[in-house]
Amino acid sequence: MKVSIFSDRHFPIGDIDPRLYGSFIEHLGRAVYGGIYEPGHPEADDMGFRKDVLELVRKLNVPIVRYPGGNFVSGYRWEDGIGDRKERPRRTELAWFTIEPNEVGIDEFQAWAKRAGSEIMMAVNLGTRGVEDARNLVEYCNFPGGTHYSDLRRKNGFEKPFAIKNWCLGNEMDGPWQIGHKTAEEYGRIAAEAGKVMKWVDPSIELTVCGSSSSEMDTFIEWEETVLRHTYDVVDYVSLHNYYGNRDNNTEKYLACSLDMDNFITTVASICDVIKRRKHSDKTMMLSFDEWNVWFHSNEQDKKIEKWTVAPPQLEDVYTFEDALVVGCLLITMIRHADRVKMACLAQLVNVIAPIMTENGGRAWAQTIFYPFLHASSYARGKALRTCVECGTYDAGKYGQAPYVESVVTVDEEKREITVLAVNRSLTEDAEVDLTVGGYGELRKIEHLILTCDDMNACNTADAPDTVVPAAVPCTEKTVLGKHSWNVIRFAW
Ligand code: AHR
Repeated sequence: MKVSIFSDRHFPIGDIDPRLYGSFIEHLGRAVYGGIYEPGHPEADDMGFRKDVLELVRKLNVPIVRYPGGNFVSGYRWEDGIGDRKERPRRTELAWFTIEPNEVGIDEFQAWAKRAGSEIMMAVNLGTRGVEDARNLVEYCNFPGGTHYSDLRRKNGFEKPFAIKNWCLGNEMDGPWQIGHKTAEEYGRIAAEAGKVMKWVDPSIELTVCGSSSSEMDTFIEWEETVLRHTYDVVDYVSLHNYYGNRDNNTEKYLACSLDMDNFITTVASICDVIKRRKHSDKTMMLSFDEWNVWFHSNEQDKKIEKWTVAPPQLEDVYTFEDALVVGCLLITMIRHADRVKMACLAQLVNVIAPIMTENGGRAWAQTIFYPFLHASSYARGKALRTCVECGTYDAGKYGQAPYVESVVTVDEEKREITVLAVNRSLTEDAEVDLTVGGYGELRKIEHLILTCDDMNACNTADAPDTVVPAAVPCTEKTVLGKHSWNVIRFAW
């Protein structure tokens, strides 16, 4: 099949915010306990953090990590996780029906984030709590000193504020599964008031208000309209969440699910712009896609997990090669919306629907989805260019007509490098690419990486961690995207 890809320096989409390559650690399953933190593990550092996991996280170059939830945050008392560990309570955790030992809280997590080279996107509990606790947490984390909560932080050993810039006003408050689920009116009001006083404590922070938990929610659109009517002036981002899965066992259709993400982003941006006009505001609301990934493999096994244990193996999706192609398409989609999507979090980072897996007491390895994320985070920095792909399409059921090739061109002007990310969705045909990137003079191909596999269901495991890994394609004049493949093609000028 022949494919043409056109881009030009004169048609930029916008700067790619580095926070597009964020991720997420929730107090859920083995994300914290047995994931990032395992005192007694041979790789544990002085604080009990696993160095092997930190190394993989640093490799992914994750600029921001959302914490501590997720559904977990809606029942969380942040004070349980600070100060003397021996005094910290064990609690019933009602989002995931486990026991939370509170061995790790914000005191420890901020230290972990520094070691990982990441900032924190901190969520406050607007499920069982409200304005008071949200402002206290901002004071504990960000106020310099001389007040109750800032001095408590100093007493706990942290003289300097944590300086957390990004804050989420609760989590998925539109979902009936949420502890303290709210109507859009109820949530809109509490989010506006909590956000207002949080910014009074620290005017330098940025706030994300909860949008819909997925594009499938019955309340989608109406929720955004109502919540933004209440909060537009005080918040900086609205969140989007979506998870995908090959539930019908139909690979071609599954590979097209990024069209839903594209539609979701466009719709939410339009709603924001309508509210902007209605309010005669100068502010353009930006989007934070702060939960996205593939999540379906573990659904059945999770039903069998015993309740009320510490860190059970929940949401441990073992990702296949085809999931990696989907993650690649989702990344391309967000980069194509770099003008509006300024933050995004691959949910999650370790063990729980994650690119990194660990064994308790044992090995750590990279799942298949690790690689498209690694490549985008490493190379698709700088600016996104409008990218026109001319190719055939196919019928992808509810997702409509899907192009066989999904692609975006990015440019790092400082490094004088151009990166083309591309997925060939065809299961049978290679794509011969005619690429035109105008405005940069003659381009020299410096690298072509490909991730492909004959077995769409191949996985990486502790015993076979290199089953699905990228390979370098020789740099020739011709550019071919192999059938069912993820590609990174880099040029210098
Ligand atoms: O990431 C797993 C869960 O998915 C999060 O806790 C929740 O916000 C979403 O439903």
